[in-house]
Amino acid sequence: MTPARERPIVAIDGPAGAGKSTAARAVAERLGYAYIDTGAMYRCVALRCLRGGVDPADAGGAAAVAEDIDIEFQPLSDGGQWVVMDGEDVSAAIREDGVSDAASHVSAHARVREVMVQRQRELGHAGGVVMEGRDIQTNVFPDAEVKVFLSASPKERARRRAGDLRDRGLPVPSVEELTRSIAERDHRDATRATAPLAAAPDATTINTDGMSIEQVVDRVAALAGAVEGDGCSA
Ligand code: DC
Repeated sequence: MTPARERPIVAIDGPAGAGKSTAARAVAERLGYAYIDTGAMYRCVALRCLRGGVDPADAGGAAAVAEDIDIEFQPLSDGGQWVVMDGEDVSAAIREDGVSDAASHVSAHARVREVMVQRQRELGHAGGVVMEGRDIQTNVFPDAEVKVFLSASPKERARRRAGDLRDRGLPVPSVEELTRSIAERDHRDATRATAPLAAAPDATTINTDGMSIEQVVDRVAALAGAVEGDGCSA
């Protein structure tokens, strides 16, 4: 038996561009919880593969990287965080488009997932965390007290991605192109054998089309508030 948790694990899943990173970070800040972006962990493995000449599709090569890599999250005062890989701040480098694609490949390997899931459980088991990622509520913490699946239409997600890239001064592909690449990634993530993208049966699904971040955060924080200190048990 796992001991009861004082504060819940809030597990947020959903496809790329559904607003889960922004929402998860803001919910963590609102509640005073730690924020753990598990996608960033797969992105670090992908980045190290790319830099080291390891093909992200090579299961053995990617697994060796996952077993060796050191990943830390360093919180910033504004609720954001630095992602530190082997002592280097890679927060920006892991967001580049080539890394997104490679991360989708490395995260499909069973051994890579096994190593990352183990680390995620160590980071989150005590509760008081907002964990974001594709399989948190179905696989990493199926006993999470709060499970939220954020969705949005592909077009809305492509629009948000374009805005993101523009804000960061990066080249912006057309919305059609972005919609297509989002749909391709969704398909790969949803149809893979290990931990495919899916909402847990007991998750609350929130379609964020037309919702502001504040509205999303209000809803998720209310779900967490409803269970906090209320004998969260694992
Ligand atoms: O959420 P993201 O785009 O930063 O995730 C990067 C990749 O890692 C994406 O292809 C989904 C995958 N991922 C995963 O398989 N499991 C997680 N818990 C988080 C992300």
